[in-house]
Amino acid sequence: MSVTDLPVRRLGPEDLRECLMLAIDRRWLPEEAKWRLLFEIGEVYGVDDPSGGLAGTVVLARYGPGLAAVSMVLVATRHGRKGLGRRLMLHVIERAAGATLFLTATPYGRPVYERVGFTTVGQVVSHTGHLTPVPDDVKLEGLRPASEADLPGIMRLDTRTSGAPRDHLMRRLPGFAARTRVVERGGRITGFGAVWRNVENHVLGPILADSTPAAVALIAELASGLHGPVRLDLDARHTELTAWAQRRGLIPAFSTALMVHGGSLPGDRHHLFAPVMVALG
Ligand SMILES: CC(C)(COP(=O)(O)OP(=O)(O)OC[C@H]1O[C@@H](n2cnc3c(N)ncnc32)[C@H](O)[C@@H]1OP(=O)(O)O)[C@@H](O)C(=O)NCCC(=O)NCCS
Repeated sequence: MSVTDLPVRRLGPEDLRECLMLAIDRRWLPEEAKWRLLFEIGEVYGVDDPSGGLAGTVVLARYGPGLAAVSMVLVATRHGRKGLGRRLMLHVIERAAGATLFLTATPYGRPVYERVGFTTVGQVVSHTGHLTPVPDDVKLEGLRPASEADLPGIMRLDTRTSGAPRDHLMRRLPGFAARTRVVERGGRITGFGAVWRNVENHVLGPILADSTPAAVALIAELASGLHGPVRLDLDARHTELTAWAQRRGLIPAFSTALMVHGGSLPGDRHHLFAPVMVALG
């Protein structure tokens, strides 16, 4: 039986170890915290390898009926180039039932996504390194730690910015993140940022703000006092913020293509300075 004839099944947290093994097989990091969040927020699908472990995975995270993020498209090296990547993509397209899908593609994934109808609409440049903000970066009225009482305001801001309801994700972030910050003006939440711990670094995201200086202040405040390297995934259109991040020590590490399927991305996206993580937008 060909590997593309094997059934795609919904995976659960009990499959986490095999997901990490598959990531390692493709020289990705075993990002346990990230996978755990994806199991909570999204639907993880996989194909069992008859000789043990997983042959492939894909994650679909729905934001209401109209929008969903696709991530963790992984096929074991031993099963590469047999059509399994395509098969997994067709599976999530079918499951998404007409929703607009988006993802960020590595050069390996891009041709597979193009063949199933995704088009490139942008570029995300992942920056890494030691960020060293100066005190002036952080000066912004209304910038403070987020509290539970801010959640409704954060959810309103996120829904307007991402163009779809992501309340389940916003509710989960305070527990997932190492730090969260808001900007409050006139009793309204106008900015929100978080930083979370990954395997090798801290990831700065999401960063939602109404201006570049507000995004700078959020990032600088979130990063201050953190030990070790950080990662910041920046949409290439945010040239001012990119220039600031590079002046403060971050280095462009790699870039991915932002791709969509079945519509255009909704929301007030120029105020989305960095995603929660590229897997979730
Ligand atoms: C990207 C990835 C998921 C693709 O998975 P895959 O199962 O190899 O993909 P497919 O087999 O469906 O398609 C890949 C290629 O194989 C070809 N192919 C498909 N069926 C084939 C078959 N039966 N025989 C030979 N070639 C075949 C496709 O035409 C395609 O050709 P191309 O690379 O020349 O354009 C896999 O390479 C991977 O896990 N890479 C590392 C992780 C990664 O980068 N993931 C993407 C994140 S955005």
